[in-house]
Amino acid sequence: MTIAPVQRSTVQSSPALGSSGWTDARLILALEEVVEKELNRHLGVAKEWMPHEFVPWSRGRDFDGVLGGEAWALDQSQVTALGRVSLVVNLLTEDNLPSYHHEIASMFGREGAWGTWVHRWTAEEGRHGIAIRDYLLATRAVDPVQLERARMNHMSEGFESDNAHSMLQSVAYVAFQELATRIAHRNTGKYAGDPLCEQLLAKIANDENLHMVFYRNLLAAALEIAPDQAMRAIADVVTDFRMPGHGIPGFERAAAQIALGGVYNLRIHHDDVLQPVLRKLRVMEIGGLGPEGVLAQNELGVFLDGLDAQARKFEDRQAAILARREARRGAE
Ligand SMILES: [Fe+2]
Ligand SMILES: [Fe+2]
Repeated sequence: MTIAPVQRSTVQSSPALGSSGWTDARLILALEEVVEKELNRHLGVAKEWMPHEFVPWSRGRDFDGVLGGEAWALDQSQVTALGRVSLVVNLLTEDNLPSYHHEIASMFGREGAWGTWVHRWTAEEGRHGIAIRDYLLATRAVDPVQLERARMNHMSEGFESDNAHSMLQSVAYVAFQELATRIAHRNTGKYAGDPLCEQLLAKIANDENLHMVFYRNLLAAALEIAPDQAMRAIADVVTDFRMPGHGIPGFERAAAQIALGGVYNLRIHHDDVLQPVLRKLRVMEIGGLGPEGVLAQNELGVFLDGLDAQARKFEDRQAAILARREARRGAE
């Protein structure tokens, strides 16, 4: 989840785009019909699910403090160390929903099909934070005091999109970001070491996938309406992509563990997030672009090659670190 923007009426007719430059306000209007169609498609395929069914309440018990129960201790946690780090990052990212809602409501508006989507999306995202927090607390997977302090800290900072200046960049960003979130949840589940956690995160990942499809289809329509501007937006977003949780306290360190453990890293970002969206939209094959569109498409191609090379270097480093760890473990 995530997103962007703010000034919905800022116009972007830069000299390079000439008089055919689309303003955000015109684009929002032009895409309203597509939003309505995609919203109806989404509502037709999204299946209701109950977060409480994925929480093993019988494993829960009172904590210390008001109820005088047992304080949390690390040995109570049954998820892996990687799972703990990753689950907390995923949850804190979900927790910042009020900021994301503010950003998209300011950009897309609260009326008509756009407004219906904004509210529906917010409601679906709200379920993710509820479900993960209930799971973590009932199973004592992570320190509840640290978690609450991190939430207060993170939410107090709010979230400001890198793409608030452009409606097209905002749409492009969320198309990639929803898929990134899907992959992060799915891989967290895979490495958390608890089949129930994996089941819950797969369910959430499924929601994120439907969100990605909505925005990806919107981006496809934008590429038809305003190909040069949409291409520029995609290039700018892809070359400067940051996960929405980048403001979480200790994010860099957590991201390094998450990368090494194979939950989310450059290889996954390139292969499982950027490429599937770009391929589906045939972004690199689109022809008939103006000079600005061609320039953006070329920039994108150069960037993707560079990213692939960086991902290969990362994989070499990852393999070396994991081999050293394995050897150390063998020597103990
Ligand atoms: Fe989402
Ligand atoms: Fe979510």
